This record gives sequence, C-alpha cells and structure tokens, in this order.
Amino acid sequence: MLIWKTFLTYKEYKLNNKLSVLFIGDIVGEPGMNCVKELIPGLIQKYKAEFVVINGENADKGKGLTEKEVGELFEIGAHIITTGNHIWDNWKSKPILASNPKVIRPLNYPPGNVGLGYTFHTLEDETQICVLQLQGRTYMQTIDCPFRAADFALKAIQEKTKNIIVDFHADATAEKIAMGWHLDGRVSAIIGTHTHVQTADACILPNGTAYITDVGMTGPYNSVVGLKKEIALKRLIHQIPYKYEMGEGDARIAGVNVIIDITTGQALKIESFVQPEFVKSVFEQFES
Ligand code: FE2
Repeated sequence: MLIWKTFLTYKEYKLNNKLSVLFIGDIVGEPGMNCVKELIPGLIQKYKAEFVVINGENADKGKGLTEKEVGELFEIGAHIITTGNHIWDNWKSKPILASNPKVIRPLNYPPGNVGLGYTFHTLEDETQICVLQLQGRTYMQTIDCPFRAADFALKAIQEKTKNIIVDFHADATAEKIAMGWHLDGRVSAIIGTHTHVQTADACILPNGTAYITDVGMTGPYNSVVGLKKEIALKRLIHQIPYKYEMGEGDARIAGVNVIIDITTGQALKIESFVQPEFVKSVFEQFES
C-alpha cells in the first residue's frame, strides 16, 4: 500500500512538470567529502531530487579539487560540480576544467583561462537545465563584470532552456543581493557560495527566481570557515601569514532544495538545510 502511494505521488510530481534540484554548498576537505558521502543519499531521497549540483571549490584540502574528489562526487549523485576562486590554487584542477564540461568555473574570468562558465545537462525526460557560475569582484580579484557577463551568457543560454541555476561565488552580501535583483525573473535560482555561512534569507523573489545569499559550507564547523581555529586566530591576532591547515570535527552538510516549474523556468519553492542541525539550546537534552 505504501509503495503504491509513493509511486502515485512521484507520478503526479512528474506530470506537474516540477523539477526538484538539490544544491550542496562548498565542500571543504576530507571532513566535507566524508559528510556529503554519508548524508547525500538521504537528502536525495527526502527531496526526490532529480538534479544535483555541488560546489567543490575547496574539496582537496581546502583548495581546488582533483580527479579523486570529482569521481567521488559524480558517483554519489552530482550532475554538475561548480568551483570558484580557489580552483586556480591547485595545479591538479586545471586539467579537469580543461577536459570535463560537467565541472565549471566562474564565467567572468578573463579570456585565455581554461574551463567553461556554464554547462547544460539533459534529464531523462529530455528537459534541459543549465548551470551558470559567476564570481563577484568586491573584496575579490578584479575580474570581468559579473553582471554584464550574466547578460551576455543568458542571451545564448535562453535559446536552449529557461531552467537556469546560477552559482554566484562572491564575498560581499550586497553584491550578491544586487545580482538577485539583476537576474530576478531571468533565471530559476541564484545560489550564493564562497562565504561558508548559510544565510537566513532563502526566498522566492517577486519575478519567480529562488534566491539565497549563501548556501553555507559542507565541512568541519569546528573551524573558522574550514580553516583550523588556532591558525585563523594567529593570522588575525599577529597580522602575518601562517600556513593553511584544515579544521577538524563537527562536520555538517549545508544546502538548498529548489523546486522549479520546467514549463516556465520559475522557482516554486526554496528550502535551506544544515544537517545535523546546530545545537541552539543546552536544554534540548532535557526535552523529550
Ligand atoms: Fe571561494
């Protein structure tokens, strides 16, 4: 009876032309990889996700990713992997960008760099979906304008599909919010990455675009955004460089589920999550 009911629900779901997308935030090192491997099967099942995007910019010890992480992320269900500014810090990452169209980097780096800034995926029912990645400039490298790059890319992308997921890899909250207004109604979702702390502003913008300023980190929260606490404090207090060391412990997965109406490309729902949830009360252990 339960199987029959589940089957009907799924069929209705498909008939209604809705697509469930799972976007997992920045994987940091081995703690992030182990966490995503353990928890993503349950999330795919919970959200009936048919399309999975993972930001893997920090997957290899905090900087870039290698064939090992790429292989593992595709094996556990990723369809597209996005990256960011740290992808260029790992010499093993460039050949991946040059050869694998399912691993992308921000579009608005100057011409001459390897890799794609957007890519398409065709689902089983022939639905086309595009993932576009852009990078902000405030407090980051002064690369090409992400707003103009988005306008330019959308002219080509919209000839193929209305279903467009944007990973906006940026540091400044204001720049991310501005991009939300710039692209509202022209893309299905704008998911902020890079700052590693999930924001509480997941919403559907007035013209139908799902938006969150930052999706958060999948990695060790016993750290300073992935960096070992002691190293981060030394850097801040002494004001000199200290060698990067990964944080350890308290690994969590952060992401969003977005439901898209594939007939319009508009978002119908966005739901953010962090698992395991943060402890918010010392009294929880006494509640039952
Ligand atoms: Fe980044």
